[in-house]
Amino acid sequence: MPDAYSTKLWGGRFREKEDALMQHFNSECWRTDWLVEPDIEGSIAHVAMQVHCGLLTEAEGETITAGLRQVLDDYWAGQIAYTPEYEDVHTFVELQLIRRIGDLGKKLHTARSRNDQCNVDMKLYVKRQAAAVTELIDRFCTTLHRKAVENPWIMPGYTHLQRAQVVTFKYHLMAYHAMLQRDRRRLQNAVAVMDECPLGCGALAGTTHAIDRAFTARQLGFTGGPCANFMDGVADRDFVLEMLSAFSILMMHLSRLAEELILWSSSEFGFIELDDKYTTGSSIMPQKKNPDGAELVRGRTGRVYGDLMALLCAMKGLPLAYNKDMQQDKDSFADALDVVTASLAIMERMIATLKAKPEAMRAAVQHGFLNATEVADYLVAHGVPFRDAHGIVGQIVIFCEDANRSIEQLTLEELRRFSPAFEQDIFEYIDYDAILHKGIKREML
Ligand code: ARG
Repeated sequence: MPDAYSTKLWGGRFREKEDALMQHFNSECWRTDWLVEPDIEGSIAHVAMQVHCGLLTEAEGETITAGLRQVLDDYWAGQIAYTPEYEDVHTFVELQLIRRIGDLGKKLHTARSRNDQCNVDMKLYVKRQAAAVTELIDRFCTTLHRKAVENPWIMPGYTHLQRAQVVTFKYHLMAYHAMLQRDRRRLQNAVAVMDECPLGCGALAGTTHAIDRAFTARQLGFTGGPCANFMDGVADRDFVLEMLSAFSILMMHLSRLAEELILWSSSEFGFIELDDKYTTGSSIMPQKKNPDGAELVRGRTGRVYGDLMALLCAMKGLPLAYNKDMQQDKDSFADALDVVTASLAIMERMIATLKAKPEAMRAAVQHGFLNATEVADYLVAHGVPFRDAHGIVGQIVIFCEDANRSIEQLTLEELRRFSPAFEQDIFEYIDYDAILHKGIKREML
């Protein structure tokens, strides 16, 4: 390899050295240090397959594998740096191998291309990160569940941010638990769909060597075996998109919860107090305690949507098979992963440490006719068709609004002016706590 090209995997057909600006622009080293390990893992499996198929002798395979392990050790030990002279992680690893074991290292790339290699690296990494995010979800769900059980307080439920019907703080938190359980399944499903091995697809057209792609797939733990089609195997970025889309939905859930924490901790609601550790102050207003943690989760959600959108747009007009545009999957995934990981961690802490204020929740329950629907339910239970009951209770609400009273503050005589179906037991029926013990509402306790 000529000296001028000593940091390249190509160069034979070039008369001129790459411009420094181009080298800088083309290098993915800025953002892909995390691919060094999966790249070496993929290479070790590729070597095992080459030995298995007779492309390398056992001894050659052992030397190359040891060399690859040495590259990784040296990299972790900080003895070698992945710098912008290297176009990408594949270049860095292969050239470091050749530096260590000499010409034998040049056999590593037989029967593969960087096009299938980068996809196998990414799939290994994405699968691993999906498992890590799943663990964070599990942790968060455990905390949500514990916090919910510890806080069974009655509170107003809202639609249109208007008080609607009574619920419990516990049940409200558990709604997020349900969302996160779906997010968890979405991640697992994305992993199941992506679980096919691209290595061996070559640049786009396989290879003339009789390699064993199923062997490589097994070595690397791809349960779906090798990719069905060489061209798709290198042109596919669905797996990153699917993960980004699952991340986007997950962030949307966290952002909604963040929004509620912000609202609930305001003086207007006063339903919770966030722990000092996850709030900040003002440089001018001494009294302020701001929910910055929650606001940052809400604010960064847009970044994850942007990461998804950026990759969708990069992919949408690309002809088969590989195009360099696709290298940007790394930027998008790494950025989204950072946001998701940090957001799950901070939200878990904010939930674990918040203090609920049951008296404020109960006080809010008593204003806004949160038992109006149950008054209608009572009439229905006494033979009034629901639509008529709805109209009757609407009239009662107008009456109460004018008199500045709540429905339970009316006398039985007053109620009977609206419908003769009312009996003394109406007051027990529409008691806010009693409501939660009726019918399927018990599930909210
Ligand atoms: N680093 C590239 C990527 O991740 C892989 C190299 C693609 N091959 C090429 N001929 N440029 O997309």
